[in-house]
Amino acid sequence: MDEPILDVRNVDLGYGALTVVYGASLSVGPGELVGLVGGNGSGKSTILRAVSGMIGQKKGEIRFDGERVADSRPHRMARRGLAHIPMGRQLFGEMTVRDNLLLGATLPEARAKRDQTLAEVEALFPDLARFSEARAAELSGGQQQMVAIARGLMLRPRMLLMDEPSLGLAPIVVKEAMRAIRKVANTGMPILLVEQNVKQVLDIADRAYVLENGRMVLDGTAEDLRGDDRVRRAYLGI
Ligand SMILES: Nc1ncnc2c1ncn2[C@@H]1O[C@H](COP(=O)(O)OP(=O)(O)OP(=O)(O)O)[C@@H](O)[C@H]1O
Ligand SMILES: [Mg+2]
Repeated sequence: MDEPILDVRNVDLGYGALTVVYGASLSVGPGELVGLVGGNGSGKSTILRAVSGMIGQKKGEIRFDGERVADSRPHRMARRGLAHIPMGRQLFGEMTVRDNLLLGATLPEARAKRDQTLAEVEALFPDLARFSEARAAELSGGQQQMVAIARGLMLRPRMLLMDEPSLGLAPIVVKEAMRAIRKVANTGMPILLVEQNVKQVLDIADRAYVLENGRMVLDGTAEDLRGDDRVRRAYLGI
């Protein structure tokens, strides 16, 4: 495999004296859409926080683009091209879709290219162009998710992290959001997608990892996991 863009190696993670993730490893290669799934409180968001530099590592190491991720440096990680997409209702509802997108280009380099990037994301998601003058609050939940993802793309990131994009969405809207995520992945963007919704992830991911009580218990291609008896019994209700 090519050198991974994200490489989490045998990390222990936690809060203060408390350890909640034990010896976890995962990688995301160039252009890969990788799922990280597991139940409530299994440690998924903790891993994302460590990847984006919000919390440190008690053991092991995390490398992004070949460089070690240091403690408590989320702004530095963003500058290095890691975009943590805040899913859901974090748009400016009273502002237009276009202004929400333009505001996503917060870093100087992204700002310099923001008209070009806007044209690119509108080409990827033509609905964004159709609704560009609408207030964000007027859009459906699925359309708002699309705007949230597109706003992350306005940073011209090298990789995206998403934490539970399906949370609080109706099933039909979840499908729409997942299709949008797959579409971004198809442009070659590496994505680490955290979800409780295992079925939806296995439908779109290239590979996935299963976390239980802070430990990685399974990983493989989405296809293999869809056929795995343990996954089917525990997560797919089959
Ligand atoms: N700031 C914190 N301080 C102390 N403990 C925390 C903190 N955040 C999370 N935890 C604990 O760490 C464990 C893992 O939580 P985490 O949020 O990573 O799980 P998760 O897999 O994202 O769960 P969910 O599906 O509910 O989002 C849980 O036991 C949780 O209570
Ligand atoms: Mg979480």
